[in-house]
Amino acid sequence: MNVIEAIKTRRSIKGNFLDKPVEKEKIEQVIEAGLWAPSGQNQQPCRFIVVTDPELLAEIEAEMFRIGETVKKLLPIVGLFKKELSGEKGRRAVKSVRPHAFHGAPGLIIIGAMSDSSSTYRKDCSLAAQNMMLAAHELGLGTCCMGWITTIHKSKALTAKLDIPKGFEICQAITIGYYDTDKTPKTPQRKSVDEATTWFLKDEAGE
Ligand SMILES: Cc1cc2nc3c(=O)[nH]c(=O)nc-3n(C[C@H](O)[C@H](O)[C@H](O)COP(=O)(O)O)c2cc1C
Repeated sequence: MNVIEAIKTRRSIKGNFLDKPVEKEKIEQVIEAGLWAPSGQNQQPCRFIVVTDPELLAEIEAEMFRIGETVKKLLPIVGLFKKELSGEKGRRAVKSVRPHAFHGAPGLIIIGAMSDSSSTYRKDCSLAAQNMMLAAHELGLGTCCMGWITTIHKSKALTAKLDIPKGFEICQAITIGYYDTDKTPKTPQRKSVDEATTWFLKDEAGE
């Protein structure tokens, strides 16, 4: 698979995971791909927490759901303080709150950094996440970004269980697992280059 093909054929897998554990070596390969992502000043702030323990996965899901439901109830108030949860954006965000956020995936990789580690750690984690999803795709594994994961820092019990130190920020997470490739989701539409781009081109004649 070449890179462009991998970019275009990777899908967010939201179900149809197989009852087949992901080998530790494959997870290591995925994390290594994350570590090869660019990072500001090559500071490499990203750290990874891998969870395949079903009980712990269920506990994280339950906590995300509990926090999501609370945010849903308090949305008009939360929206006043958190720009990203105000108005329509907030209403759309809470729509994705569901009891089984991981869609049955057998694994989760949390990606984060110490907030004092670098000035670009959030961007670095996002870049790492995309590398990881592409590498997983190449390895025949399905992934999906998990937006609400950032809420779990609110749970002292869970952060203690996950060995998350004070000052560590969860930036991203991806689910991971083998899935039924015959049931790969349909390709969602993308904007055209024209729709998304403003050009300031050098004159073709070079004048
Ligand atoms: C930052 C971010 C957060 C996301 N959070 C969720 C989520 O919590 N649950 C979910 O099912 N999908 C989530 N997604 C996946 C998107 O729904 C998906 O990327 C989008 O619909 C495009 O589909 P594709 O990835 O298959 O091209 C998230 C994606 C991103 C980039």
